[in-house]
Amino acid sequence: MNIVYNKTSNHFHLYNDRISYIIGITVGGDIINLYYGKRIHDRDDFSHVIFRMGLPNVAVDADTESYSKELNRQEYSSFGTTDFGVQAFEIEMENGSRISSFSYKSHKIYAGKPVITGLPATYADESEAMTLDITLKDELAGVGLVLSYTIFDKYPVVARHTVFKNIGEAKVKITRALSCCLDLPDQNYEWMQFSGAWARERIPEIKKLSTGVTYIESRRGVSSANQNPFVILKRPNTDEFMGEAIAFSFVYSGNFIALADGSTHGRLRMLMGINPDRFAWPLESGESFETPEVVIAMTDSGLNDLSHTYHRLYNNNLVRGKWKNKPRPILINNWEATFMDFTEDSILKIASKAKDAGVELFVLDDGWFGDRDDDFAGLGDWVENPKKLPQGMAGLSKKINDLGLKFGFWIEPEMVNPDSNLFRRHPDWILAAPGRKSSLGRHQLVLDYSRKEVVDHIFDMLYAVISSSKIDYIKWDMNRPLTEVYSVAASSEEQGMIAHKYVLGVYSLYSRLTEAFPDILFESCSSGGNRFDAGMLYYAPQAWCSDNTDAIDRIRIQYGSSYGYPLVSMGAHVSAVPNQQTGRSTSIDTRANVAYFGTFGYELDLNEISDEEFELVKKQIEFMKENRELIQFGDFYRLRSPFEKDQCAWMVVSEDKSKAIVGFYCMRSNVNVLPGFLKLAGLDENKKYKMEGKIYFGDELMNMGLSVLEFQKKGFALARDFDSFVTVIEAV
Ligand code: DGJ
Repeated sequence: MNIVYNKTSNHFHLYNDRISYIIGITVGGDIINLYYGKRIHDRDDFSHVIFRMGLPNVAVDADTESYSKELNRQEYSSFGTTDFGVQAFEIEMENGSRISSFSYKSHKIYAGKPVITGLPATYADESEAMTLDITLKDELAGVGLVLSYTIFDKYPVVARHTVFKNIGEAKVKITRALSCCLDLPDQNYEWMQFSGAWARERIPEIKKLSTGVTYIESRRGVSSANQNPFVILKRPNTDEFMGEAIAFSFVYSGNFIALADGSTHGRLRMLMGINPDRFAWPLESGESFETPEVVIAMTDSGLNDLSHTYHRLYNNNLVRGKWKNKPRPILINNWEATFMDFTEDSILKIASKAKDAGVELFVLDDGWFGDRDDDFAGLGDWVENPKKLPQGMAGLSKKINDLGLKFGFWIEPEMVNPDSNLFRRHPDWILAAPGRKSSLGRHQLVLDYSRKEVVDHIFDMLYAVISSSKIDYIKWDMNRPLTEVYSVAASSEEQGMIAHKYVLGVYSLYSRLTEAFPDILFESCSSGGNRFDAGMLYYAPQAWCSDNTDAIDRIRIQYGSSYGYPLVSMGAHVSAVPNQQTGRSTSIDTRANVAYFGTFGYELDLNEISDEEFELVKKQIEFMKENRELIQFGDFYRLRSPFEKDQCAWMVVSEDKSKAIVGFYCMRSNVNVLPGFLKLAGLDENKKYKMEGKIYFGDELMNMGLSVLEFQKKGFALARDFDSFVTVIEAV
């Protein structure tokens, strides 16, 4: 990895073994992209790719009269001069002008990576990454910009963010501050987004790009189940195993936009950042604003390779703390077993049976606090309900620990029910617009986390209950979108800051709790996967994937999630049948065969299953204990897409290729069709592997494939709906 600056040509070349990112400074001080893609040799001067020809109807810059922003690839597109595409930022001056004209002033190249104040971001030490900060100025507006680029040594990744600084006397207002702009020289890409809604999160959708704008966004205050802040631009022929693609992952958990703008001259502009809709950030003289980070990765060998990059980068350079790269405990959660209707005794009964099965951690879900017997009351009152926990959290955690299990519990700290002591005492602590009714979501209101005193109060309450007991795990839930985004504590001018300040408030509480309790494993959740993003992973190394625990639907949800997020980040549990969301019944084997490919746990009362199933559960737990390190941190390959076929297959392979685990799922049986072959991936072609007692060469398994018929003969039926098998392959 290196960042080379050529003084004569004014070009920067950021490169590592796999990629080159080349930036030029034009005569007029404009910052443009000269190349981004597979690694190429360095040379003194790349300026032959700058476009300096007049075209009819194209405006050219006043100082050179031969250069147009519109025809050159901008690194941070601006409004008001010769670029007519979608802009990356907008600054309003006091006189109402929104025109910007920034030019290069200086740069800094250094080893390592800067911290972004108050925001999650990937991190790297001096041997892992190098950073280029380019400083630009708009003298008239009195604003400085820093475009920050970090290239990682081991990954084909460039991470970008931008810093705005008011260096003048007058106040300015930023009305748009995206994190990155990447202009590509052609539009022959397909846009792949991960969309859905509650209980059907992160389902891939592919669209062909051409001229005009394609975009996704969230305006819900959270990154959302509806659109994930992760987009892939792939060449039309790119599949899981071959071809080029570039991906953009936003390390942020609030409103966002991801947008591709295809110009009629043939360039493709990709933008990503905080959603500018209703965003406005006033900057007084001397003040700064830092955008969140976008992680841009590229591949020239297919989407599995692209996912491996994000999986490794996020496991090694985003997740922090004690649980980084640590296999996760097998848990049991009481939510689907009891909802809020439990007593200490009923909880202990579930926990005790789970212990017999080999479970390691018990999680007490919603309903333990305040007057919380249903979802109409109690949120905000983070003190134990003595009817349910007669000796408090301390008493229950001790009893669970005495059973030999670790213990954790559920919180939803951003919310308040109108029927709660917190709301009765502080009715103005919610997001609400004066004179308007506040919309309810699940009978609850959203606390105004843009206010420090609100965050402080919740921290104190949670600190008291967490520190009263031995707590190993916290599930942090968030069950409604933000509406009436207005803070009575802010001036009219500051209202455009509230949505982002809310997210900063959430991050600050996460920081304080994770610092105060560094050993606790945090799992984020938002009605399932409504805030499943890279920003959250910085604080909570795993996230509840979806409230839909049906094994067949989960295949799609986990498959879609795997494009941008590692398996170890995906909360996945075996629940009861018929499934509470879909009414579908699947075998306990199939439910586990899906949940293995995540953090793995149970969400049912094991007292209520048959003895025969209980014996299977014991075996499942043994299997997961033996293989979780490989499953959670190995290389994951998507082999057969559940969106294209009635079967799905995936596998994980250890780094040294000595062991692999394959999962194969029949979502819908097909009659009178040859069962075919499943081609495996990631193995060593020259190694011999043992699978189900037989020996195969790696190249046979990857090229001829594994005969599905053989598995059928062995008794894995696979010819019936919802059948599945998981098999281990070991080098001999
Ligand atoms: C939504 C979560 O996704 C569920 O797992 C559960 O924790 C409930 N909230 C509790 O209210």
